[in-house]
Amino acid sequence: MILDCYAVFGHPINHSKSPRIHQLFAEQTQQSLTYIAQDVPAESFDSAIDSFFKQGGKGINCTVPLKELAWQRADSLSKRAQFSKAVNTLALQDNGSLLGDNTDGLGLVADLTINHAIPLRNSRILILGAGGASRGIIEPLMEQSPSSIVIANRTVEKAITLSTEFSQLGEISGSGFDAIKNRQFDLILNATSASLTGELPPLADTLLAKNGCCYDLAYGNKPTPFVNWGKSHDAEKSLDGLGMLVEQAAEAFYIWRGVRPETSGVIKLLNSERE
Ligand code: ATR
Repeated sequence: MILDCYAVFGHPINHSKSPRIHQLFAEQTQQSLTYIAQDVPAESFDSAIDSFFKQGGKGINCTVPLKELAWQRADSLSKRAQFSKAVNTLALQDNGSLLGDNTDGLGLVADLTINHAIPLRNSRILILGAGGASRGIIEPLMEQSPSSIVIANRTVEKAITLSTEFSQLGEISGSGFDAIKNRQFDLILNATSASLTGELPPLADTLLAKNGCCYDLAYGNKPTPFVNWGKSHDAEKSLDGLGMLVEQAAEAFYIWRGVRPETSGVIKLLNSERE
């Protein structure tokens, strides 16, 4: 029997946890498939896609730096992918075309609200960063009816431009870090790439409201600088993005296989492996 084949494309890709997560999902749901990690720099994206699907591949996850390219490459887009201008899941359709979807925002919302019982309704949310990671989470967060979303970014214009793209969905504004130093937020999400280099955006000590929570979209074997910032500023919860990673993978698995895997056991296992 030839197994259905899936892959994650990205660069770098050697530390990706996606093959392990999808293998665990496949075992749990008794689906027969393979899932590999493939190092694909941006300049090889189109040829790598062509040869993967020519060889019978069924679906691809795309990560840094390929999500915008995948958005351009998809033949059709889900509504959430249209908004995010980024695609993390490509699914081969029966007619041979490629559907592009983005499960990142849904993964984040599931991890926040279901796994960690962090309420989003009527909350004041601060998003740090105005790049692709921020863009992908705004619409799913807006759907949860927060009282407001502020995007703060080092390059202020990028935050303002991004916020105006979503202004028809609810109360949202863009700003620099200095302009928010006297405000308070119930949830601060770090969507900058600062964690990757061990850095931290310039955050005022009073930014987090009483009982507020911090969440870093990045994750690592050790707590990120932003998770540590949250802990040292009395966050009710200060979490990294491992749960989001598993949840976005579960949604991708559902798109491909029509079966929704159970995530809590997988998150628990991955957490135990890094302790
Ligand atoms: P991604 O697709 O991961 O979001 P990106 O589009 O390159 O990556 O965006 C990275 C984001 O992290 C940007 O908002 C960037 O701020 P600038 O727009 O001002 O460059 C932010 N960022 C990266 N390193 C940072 C740092 N050390 N401090 C604060 N913000 C940082």
